Amino acid sequence: MEDYKYIVEVMLKHLDEGIIVADTNANITLYNEPATNIAGITPHEAIGKNVLDIFRDLTPETSTFYKVLKNKEPILNHVQTYLNYQGKKVSTLTSTIPLIREGEIVGALEVYRDLTQVKELSEKIINLQSQLFKKDHKKKVYCGNGTTHTFEDIIGEHKEILKLKEKGKKVADSSSPILVYGETGTGKELVVQAIHNYSKRRNKPFIAQNCAAIPKTLLESLLFGTCSGSFTGAKDNPGLFELAHGGTLFLDEINSMDIELQGKLLRVLQDGMIRRIGGSQTFMVDVRIIASTNEIPSNLVEQKKLRNDLYYRLNVIPLTIPSLIERKEDIPLLISHFINVYNNKLYKNIQGLSSEAMAVFCQYHWPGNVRELRYTLEGIMNFVEGEIIQIDDLPVDLLKNKPLIKKEEEIYEKEKDLPPLVEAIKDYEKNLIQKAIEQANGNCAKAARILDIPRQTLHNKVKKLSIEWKTTTK
Ligand SMILES: Nc1ncnc2c1ncn2[C@@H]1O[C@H](COP(=O)(O)OP(=O)(O)OP(=O)(O)O)[C@@H](O)[C@H]1O
Ligand SMILES: [Mg+2]
Repeated sequence: MEDYKYIVEVMLKHLDEGIIVADTNANITLYNEPATNIAGITPHEAIGKNVLDIFRDLTPETSTFYKVLKNKEPILNHVQTYLNYQGKKVSTLTSTIPLIREGEIVGALEVYRDLTQVKELSEKIINLQSQLFKKDHKKKVYCGNGTTHTFEDIIGEHKEILKLKEKGKKVADSSSPILVYGETGTGKELVVQAIHNYSKRRNKPFIAQNCAAIPKTLLESLLFGTCSGSFTGAKDNPGLFELAHGGTLFLDEINSMDIELQGKLLRVLQDGMIRRIGGSQTFMVDVRIIASTNEIPSNLVEQKKLRNDLYYRLNVIPLTIPSLIERKEDIPLLISHFINVYNNKLYKNIQGLSSEAMAVFCQYHWPGNVRELRYTLEGIMNFVEGEIIQIDDLPVDLLKNKPLIKKEEEIYEKEKDLPPLVEAIKDYEKNLIQKAIEQANGNCAKAARILDIPRQTLHNKVKKLSIEWKTTTK
C-alpha cells in the first residue's frame, strides 16, 4: 500500500498535466507540482486555499470546480482562458471529474493541460496570415491608376511568350498604337496593363473601354465627350480621350465598334485632336491607344468588321498572344502559379497534381485558355482535401478528353504477358524440331538435314526439350 502511494506521488510529480483536487467546499486538498506552472502558486501555498482564491477572476458560476461539485457531472475538455494567481493570462484545456464515494460527492478532481503556448502560436499564425493577405492585396494596387498587372504577372516560358514580353517592354515608351490579338482568355488585358505599367505613362490614367459592351451612340459620346445642348439631356462631359490624357486608352474588342465610329476614331488617331459631340472647340490629346481583338485582324478586315485604314493605323505594333494549346509546355507552370494563388486565397496546402491528373490538364484543348485553366483550378481546389489533386477531383468536361494513360500496374500487367526471352526461344526451338520430325516422317537423319544440324545435336535437343518423337503420314 505504501508502495502504491509512493508510485502515485512520483507520477503526479512527473506528469505534464496539472492535477488539483478540491473537497466539497472547493478547498484544495491535493495539488501536484506541474500545476504550479499553470496556476502560478506552489503546492505548499495552494493546499487549503479555495479554488476561487487562486483563480481570482472566476466566480462560483464560471468555475468548473463549482459546477461539477453542484451538478455531480464531469466537464470534459473544456478550454478556458483566465488570470492565474500571479495575474498571468493562461489558457488551459481542463477536464473536471466529480469524486463520488458510496453515492456521495466527496470532492472534484481537475486535470489541466496548458494551452497558452499553443494558443499564442495559433494567434501568431492567424496574425501573420492576415498580414500576408493584406500585403498580397497591397501589391496589386499600382499608382492609383486602377490597374493591377505587370510583366512579372505574365506567366510562361514558351518562346512566343518570352518574345511577347520582350517586345511589350521595348514598345512601352513609344506612343505608337498597338493592336493586340489573342483568343479569349489568353491574357490580352494582362499584357496591355503590363505595357502601361512599364511605360513612362504609368502614373497617368489607364482607361479600358470594351467596345462590344455598349450601343454605338453611347460609345461615341463616351469616347469623345458631349457639350450641353448637343442632344436632349446632354451635359458638358469630357470623353474618355480627354480623361485618358497623358495615359493609355485601351479599346477592347475593337472589331465590335461601329464602322462609322471606326472612321472617327481613325481621324483622332491621325491628327491627335478631338472635339466633343455638339462642341466647336477642338482639343489636342496625348493618349496612347491600344486596341485588341479576339479574332484574327486580317480576317476582320476581309469580313469588313474592321476598316482597313484603321487596321493599318492600329497595326503599327502588332502583338499576338498564343493560345494555351499552342504553348502546352507552359501548362505545368501556370498550374503551379495558380495553385499558389489559391492556396493563399483558400488557406489550402495543395502541393500539385498526380501525374495522371497532370496528363489530363496537358492534353485538354482549353478553349477558354488561361482563364479557363485558372477557374478550373479554383473550382477543384475548393473541394480537394488532400495535398495532391487526383484524377477523381477533375471536372467531367476535362475528363471527356482523358488521354489514354496506362497506369503503372497496367504496364506491368502487359509486361507480364510477354514470356521471358529464354522461354520463348525454347518454345520456338521445340516447335521447329517437332515440325521437322513430322515433315521427315520420323526419320532422324532427314529431320536433322531439314534443320541443318548434326544428328547428335538433334538427339540432344530432343532429349533436353522433352520432345515426343511424333510422326505424321502425309
Ligand atoms: N500568361 C498568364 N499568366 C498568368 N495569368 C494569366 C495569363 N494569361 C491570362 N491570365 C489570367 O487569365 C485571366 C484572363 O486574362 P485576360 O482577361 O487578360 O484575358 P483576355 O485575353 O483579355 O480575355 P477576353 O478576350 O475574354 O477579354 C485573368 O485572370 C488573367 O490574370
Ligand atoms: Mg479582355
